Amino acid sequence: MKVYAINGSPRKNKNTATLLQKALDGVKDSVKDSEIETEIINLYDLNYTGCKSCFACKRLESKNYGKCAIKDDLQEVLEKVSQADGLIFGSPIYFSNITGQLQAFLERLLFPYLVYDKNHSSIAPKKMPTAFIYTMNVPQEFMEQLNYNLILNTLAAPIERIFTKPKVMYSNNTYQFDDYSKYKADAFSEEEKAAHRAKQFPLDCEKAYKIGTSLIQ
Ligand SMILES: Cc1cc2nc3c(=O)[nH]c(=O)nc-3n(C[C@H](O)[C@H](O)[C@H](O)COP(=O)(O)O)c2cc1C
Repeated sequence: MKVYAINGSPRKNKNTATLLQKALDGVKDSVKDSEIETEIINLYDLNYTGCKSCFACKRLESKNYGKCAIKDDLQEVLEKVSQADGLIFGSPIYFSNITGQLQAFLERLLFPYLVYDKNHSSIAPKKMPTAFIYTMNVPQEFMEQLNYNLILNTLAAPIERIFTKPKVMYSNNTYQFDDYSKYKADAFSEEEKAAHRAKQFPLDCEKAYKIGTSLIQ
């Protein structure tokens, strides 16, 4: 069995990556199968574009029907991810949405599986369980006022249609820099941020771990 975490953050050891690793730890601990393997795929290590609208994946009698035809670093990744037993996506919020890198990845992953038939059916080879972990600077109340969940739910819809409804968690008010005094950031109180991180981030890690433990039923 193989479960992948897709890291949509450029940072490999900050908020998003930490929570993704906790979720993978949860997956490992929940499955008795000692053969379970987990892997983080860091999207920012890869060279690729979003969908180019070539429609090779929808062309009848094409060797690429149902597959992305673009040849770049994602070709191999998309192939292995299509055979996964679980997928956990993670992204920081950039301007109220997921990062461009993850958006481009999802276009390439999801669009070839979406059939342009009356039911918009899916031809994904496997229906694996999924989860989505979002991290962001804004506190929870502010996130609610800004309706981030409405924006982010539009993403969950094609993932549900093609794979399964993702389990979702948000980590708010994240700590952005190691040392706030080195940056122009007086919009925030470092003291308040540090206190939140000390109290809330371990709870967020637990939440991510639990998402992992409940991913594979
Ligand atoms: C380009 C950019 C845009 C951002 N836009 C938002 C935003 O719209 N809302 C928000 O809450 N946080 C925003 N943030 C903050 C990040 O979402 C937050 O710090 C996140 O936890 C970083 O994740 P990481 O530590 O995994 O890199 C932005 C950060 C960057 C670099």
